[in-house]
Amino acid sequence: MTTSGEAIRHLWTHKTQDHPWLSDEELVIDRAEGVWVWTEQGKKLMDAFAGLAVVNVGHGRREIAEAIAEQTVRLAYYPTTRQFSNRPAAELAAKLATLTPGDLDISMFAVSGSEANERSMQIARHYWLTRGKPDKHKVIALEGGYHGATMGTYAVCGLPKLAAPYAALQVPGFTKVTAPYPFRDRGTGTDEALVERRARELREAILREGPDTVSAVILEPVLSSGGFIMPPLGWLGAVRAVCDELDVLMIADEVITGFGRTGRWFACEHDGVVPDLMSVAKGITSGYVPLSASIARRRLAEAFPDDATQENVHPNTYAAHPVACAAALANLRIMEQDHLVENAAAMGARLLDGLEGAVGGRRIVGEVRGRGLMVCAELVEPNGSGRPLDSAQVSTLDRKAWERGAIVYARGNVVRLAPPLCITRDEVDALVDIVAASIGELETELTR
Ligand SMILES: Cc1ncc(COP(=O)(O)O)c(C=O)c1O
Repeated sequence: MTTSGEAIRHLWTHKTQDHPWLSDEELVIDRAEGVWVWTEQGKKLMDAFAGLAVVNVGHGRREIAEAIAEQTVRLAYYPTTRQFSNRPAAELAAKLATLTPGDLDISMFAVSGSEANERSMQIARHYWLTRGKPDKHKVIALEGGYHGATMGTYAVCGLPKLAAPYAALQVPGFTKVTAPYPFRDRGTGTDEALVERRARELREAILREGPDTVSAVILEPVLSSGGFIMPPLGWLGAVRAVCDELDVLMIADEVITGFGRTGRWFACEHDGVVPDLMSVAKGITSGYVPLSASIARRRLAEAFPDDATQENVHPNTYAAHPVACAAALANLRIMEQDHLVENAAAMGARLLDGLEGAVGGRRIVGEVRGRGLMVCAELVEPNGSGRPLDSAQVSTLDRKAWERGAIVYARGNVVRLAPPLCITRDEVDALVDIVAASIGELETELTR
C-alpha cells in the first residue's frame, strides 16, 4: 500500500522550496539503510545531507532500535522536572562530560536544537542574575547565523528573510555582527587579518551595547544555514578572548557541528576553545529519537547553590526523556565502536579533495570548502565577476543530483553535502561523480 496524495496534503511541509518538479507521491521516503534511502516508489538515493545533517551513524542501526525498545518497556517516561532522574539520562550526562572539551560537564536536556539554544541563553541569563548582575541580558549573534525556529532563537537569527515576519515581536538587545567569511571578505589580506578585524568589530559592538548589559555571544563554529561559511581557525579563540576580557559568556551552537560532523567530536576542538555553554542536538541521537542539550561549564553550574529552593531555568516536560537518552547512549556507542569521528575526518578530506579536483576549476565554482563531512561548493556567475550565482539556477542542482541518484542540499548559491559519517570511500567517490556531473551540466546550460 502506498501513501495517498490526499493524506500528504494534510502535512504542513515546505518541500516545494527544494523539489517543486516532483509530485507529493514521489517524495515519500519509505525506508533507509546506511547512507541510502528509498522512496515509496522504489527510487534509491544517496542521502548526501543525512536528512538535515542529523543521521550521523547512518540509517537503520538495529542497536539503537533495540535500546529504544528495551527502555520503552522498562520506563518510557518520567519527568526530571521535580528532582526525579533516570538512569539513561544520568549516564548520558556523565558520558557527555567525558566527550566534551574542558569542564563542559553539566547537561540540561531538551528536545530540539532550538530549545537547546533557548536553554543556553536562559542559563546565561540566570547565571548573571545569580551573580548579582541583573542588567546583563543582551545576546550578540552573527549575521548569517541560524539557531532555531522559536521566537527567542529568531531574535538571534542572522538570516533576515527567516526572522523578518517576527521583527515586530522582538525585544531590542539582539545585535548582530559579521562573521569572518574568507571567500567573500578576505580580499588581498590574510585570514589572520580578517579574524582580527571581525573580532575587533565584535568587541566594539559589545562596548557600544555596554558590557554590563551583555549576557552572551552565541555563534555557530561553522555557519550552516548561512551557507556553510567556515570562519578560519583562530576565530573562536579570538571570540573567547573578547568574551573573557569583557566578562560576557560564550555560547557555541554545535547543533549541526557536534558529534563528529567536522571530523572532531565537537567543532570547537579545532580551535582548542572551551565555550561556556554548548548547545547540541541532531547527532546526539542521529535523529532516531529527538533530543538536545545545553551543556554548561562546571563553574557556571556551580553558581547555582545545591540547596536553592527556587527554580532557575525552567525545563520542559520531555527534558531528559529516558527513551531519547537511551537512544543517545546506543548512538554514541556506535560512534566509538565504528570510529566514526575518525571516518568523518578521513572521508571529509577525500570528499573535499575529490570535489576540488573535479569542479574546483569550473567557471561557475567560486570555492570548494569543507571541514570534516561538511563540504560545499559555492557557485558564482560564469562571467568571472565573482558575483553569487542566482539561487534559482543553483537550486536546479537538487534536481540534477536527484536524477543521478543523490539528495544534496542546494540553497542560496551553495550546494552543501553532509552525508552520514559512516560513508565509505566508494560512496564518497560516487557522490563526487554525481555532484561534479550536476555542476558540469549546469555550467553547460549557463554558458551555451
Ligand atoms: C546550527 C543550528 N542551530 C539550531 C538549529 C535548530 O534545531 P532544531 O531544528 O532541532 O530546533 C539548527 C537546525 O538546523 C541548526 O542548524
